[in-house]
Amino acid sequence: MKGFGMNPASLDWAFVDKLRKFTKMKIVLKGIEAPEDAKLAVEHGVDGVLVSNHGGRAMETGRATIEDLPEVVDAVNGRIPVFVDGGIRRGSDALKALALGATAVGIGRPYLWALTSFGQAGVERALEILTAELRLAMRQCGMPTLARINKSAVILHDSRS
Ligand SMILES: Cc1cc2nc3c(=O)[nH]c(=O)nc-3n(C[C@H](O)[C@H](O)[C@H](O)COP(=O)(O)O)c2cc1C
Repeated sequence: MKGFGMNPASLDWAFVDKLRKFTKMKIVLKGIEAPEDAKLAVEHGVDGVLVSNHGGRAMETGRATIEDLPEVVDAVNGRIPVFVDGGIRRGSDALKALALGATAVGIGRPYLWALTSFGQAGVERALEILTAELRLAMRQCGMPTLARINKSAVILHDSRS
């Protein structure tokens, strides 16, 4: 398990099997965007998937992760948690992702911007703002608890057509 570098071309499902045997720790695969890969992730025994295109930094012409999410959620069918990041900028973005079946959402650049502008206090404030916005959006959709969030909060367009 050494010498894999940052983006090794040799990363394949055999590698995931090796990793699974190597550790009892939880394995969450980051960068899953396709339902086919999500199914394979379950079959290869990982504990969760993170729908991510690395903030569009890896391949900026792909779909947004919010568009990938429903297909991945369908493919996983409740067997493991599905996380998502990429473009979450407001509490309402988080609500949409949760409504589409995400177990939780992540942010990247928003906390980096807050950190570089205002340090730790900035990050804490950014999280406060996002949480307050999420609570407000939930109330406005008549979904006052996380358990009450469901698909009716969003209208889907077919992003493959
Ligand atoms: C400066 C920078 C470096 C990143 N490096 C990595 C990386 O090495 N590996 C990775 O999986 N994702 C990387 N990401 C992506 C983040 O982990 C995360 O998926 C992404 O920032 C989420 O999207 P958002 O920035 O729109 O919230 C990086 C993002 C930024 C902004």
